[in-house]
Amino acid sequence: MTAPRVIAIDGPSASGKSSTGAAVATALGLTHVDSGALYRALAWVSLEEGTEDPERILRAAIKAGIELVHIGGALEVRAAGRDLAQILRTPEVSAGASRVAGHPLLRDWVNRQLRSGVAEAGGAVLDGRDIGTVVFPDAALKIFLTASPEARALRRLLQRGDEVDAGQLLREAATLAERDRRDAARPVAPLAQAADAILVDSTSLTLTQQVERIVGLARDRGLLPA
Ligand code: CDP
Repeated sequence: MTAPRVIAIDGPSASGKSSTGAAVATALGLTHVDSGALYRALAWVSLEEGTEDPERILRAAIKAGIELVHIGGALEVRAAGRDLAQILRTPEVSAGASRVAGHPLLRDWVNRQLRSGVAEAGGAVLDGRDIGTVVFPDAALKIFLTASPEARALRRLLQRGDEVDAGQLLREAATLAERDRRDAARPVAPLAQAADAILVDSTSLTLTQQVERIVGLARDRGLLPA
């Protein structure tokens, strides 16, 4: 059975999943969920607590009130109501996220938050690494969104408002490549294209073009605006 009104957008770091997912969700009247934000929140807890132990991280995350909250058209991560958006985008948290994401205990917890939030919302556009392969294997539409390493490094620098020169670009591309390598090599829920996912290479597409392409595919499958 297909999951009604669930769209999975997976792909490597900085391929544009979050901004694309948010715009696709708006176009179709669905809730947007950035699953990476939950891994980032667990990484933040791990850094704050100074521990890599999954059980301690989980206990501390629950104590800190990490949860998904319906805000506007999205399910967003909050810590007892506190918006963590700025903190979760630091390079330390990004690197930590792919480490915590290797623990099955933490992945199970994240997956439970995602599934119950989406059930309550009655469907969603979710972006991540394993949405189409593990979290919602029966999603109505699965997209694997990618872009060249150079395009992704440039987008990440611009997103952070960092300087863009040849040296910075090379360093950012190397950092992204290391995180992708770790995400693709881990034994649990590795970054991979689902057999039934549609590949969208956004290297030479604008955000509007990639959103239109995915919304078009969703319409072809009967996912009409709510
Ligand atoms: O925004 P960006 O693509 O750089 O990363 P993100 O989506 O915020 O994810 C941060 C990290 O969380 C990734 O590098 C993965 O290690 C992990 N992650 C995951 O394992 N599974 C997901 N469904 C989403 C994120």
